[in-house]
Amino acid sequence: MKTFDLNEIHQLEHIYKINLINSVTGVKSANLIGSISNSGMVNVAVFSSVVHMGSAPPLLGMLFRPTTVARNTYDNIKDNGYYTLNHIHQHNIADAHHTSAKYPFDVNEFEMTELEEEYKPGCAIPFVAGSPVQLLMKYKNEYPIKENGTILLVGEIQKLYVQEDLIHSDGFVDLAKANVVGINGLDGYVKTTLIERLPYQRPKEYTASNS
Ligand SMILES: Cc1cc2nc3c(=O)[nH]c(=O)nc-3n(C[C@H](O)[C@H](O)[C@H](O)COP(=O)(O)O)c2cc1C
Repeated sequence: MKTFDLNEIHQLEHIYKINLINSVTGVKSANLIGSISNSGMVNVAVFSSVVHMGSAPPLLGMLFRPTTVARNTYDNIKDNGYYTLNHIHQHNIADAHHTSAKYPFDVNEFEMTELEEEYKPGCAIPFVAGSPVQLLMKYKNEYPIKENGTILLVGEIQKLYVQEDLIHSDGFVDLAKANVVGINGLDGYVKTTLIERLPYQRPKEYTASNS
C-alpha cells in the first residue's frame, strides 16, 4: 500500500492533494443546487457534500467552502431562505460539472448550459428540469467549522418530488434505476448499480468475552 503521513499530505502538490483527499471520502452524491437572489438572479451549481442528518424532521446538511470569495448559492440561500436540490442524471454530467465554473453573480448558469429551469406552481425557486429526484429545501441554521473556515448549512426538506417508478412499496428510492450518478473525488462521475437490499440487522447469538 502507498502510505502518506500527515506531514507528507501537507507537502503534496496542490492539485494532487485535493484530488487525493477529495477521493478518499468515498463516492458522494451528485447534486445541483438551484437558488435565486431577492433581486431575481437565478443560480445553479454542483455540490457533492450533501449529507443526511435525520428523517424526523427531514434534515440535510451541506458544506460550503469558505466565503472569502463570492459564493452565489450561499448568498442566495441567505437572501430568501430557500433552495432546491436536484440529483444529477447520467446524461447531464458535463453540464452539471460546468456549473462549478466561477461565473459572476449576474450570470445564470442555466443559460450557459443545456440545463433547463423548472418552476413548480407557487414556487419561485428554480428546479432542474428532468432531474428524477428534486427537493425544495428551507434554510434552518448554519455552523462555522473553525478548523478550516467552511460552513455546515442545515436545511429542512419542504417538498420532495420523486419519479414515481423509483419508489419501492416501503419508501426506498432506487436511484440506480433513475441513472443518477455519484461523484468520486472532484471530477470523477460514476454510474450507480443496486447490488442488493439487505434486511434490518439484529445481533447474532454470542457469548460476551468478559463474562
Ligand atoms: C464535483 C464538484 C462538487 C462540488 N461540491 C461542492 C461542495 O460540496 N461545497 C462547495 O462549497 N463547493 C462545491 N463545489 C464547488 C462549487 O460548485 C463552485 O464553487 C461553484 O462555483 C459554486 O457556485 P456559486 O458561486 O454559484 O454558488 C463542487 C465542485 C465540483 C466540480
